[in-house]
Amino acid sequence: MMKDEMKVVAFSGSLRAKSYNSALIKAASELAPPGMKIDRFDLRDLPMYDDDVRLAGFPPSVVMLREAVAEADGVLLASPEYNRSVPAVLKNAIDWASRGPDQPFAQKPVALFNASQGLIGGALANHHLRQILVYLDAQMVNGPEVLVSNSKSRFDESGALVDGSVRSFIAAHLVRFADLIRRWRRTEVIHP
Ligand code: FNR
Repeated sequence: MMKDEMKVVAFSGSLRAKSYNSALIKAASELAPPGMKIDRFDLRDLPMYDDDVRLAGFPPSVVMLREAVAEADGVLLASPEYNRSVPAVLKNAIDWASRGPDQPFAQKPVALFNASQGLIGGALANHHLRQILVYLDAQMVNGPEVLVSNSKSRFDESGALVDGSVRSFIAAHLVRFADLIRRWRRTEVIHP
């Protein structure tokens, strides 16, 4: 890997085929700064969290999820807001990743995108996600946040992000994400 290459794993909080959040991940992979590669990891195969299952051994899909986070230089979460909070699909994935040993979100650079139909673009889901990730000691790109309101108007029928101002905003946010990743590379990381 070249010095400035960055591997980012992306999770969508929506499983539906025409998800605007999954479409945001696709747009982000096109708008990423040079050296940053964004690959989506599909959360649909994860079982619902069960601590008895964890104690018996992480299922293969959970092992893959945890490894994907651990090996990535950064994590991008793109999620709708469901009932003013984080959809179960994404919370479930974070819960699986959060158990020790070596919980992989610790000191991991994270970027948050939210696309929702409402006028506040998933702002409350964004802030609930931040609370969760602070507890896990993830390092997030801070405001201004990527909140895509009225999502239907921002994408075309094929799911391409066609709103120029949202595209520029995302490109700028990804540059800040790359800076955060570089900053953490220079930091000596000491896990408890
Ligand atoms: C929603 N939606 C929604 N929108 C919003 O802005 N705030 C909210 O609290 C909710 N709540 C909510 C709950 C549930 C169960 C569903 C299914 C939907 C609408 C949501 O933003 C819209 O369906 C998005 O298009 C979902 O994102 P994806 O699937 O396009 O990525």
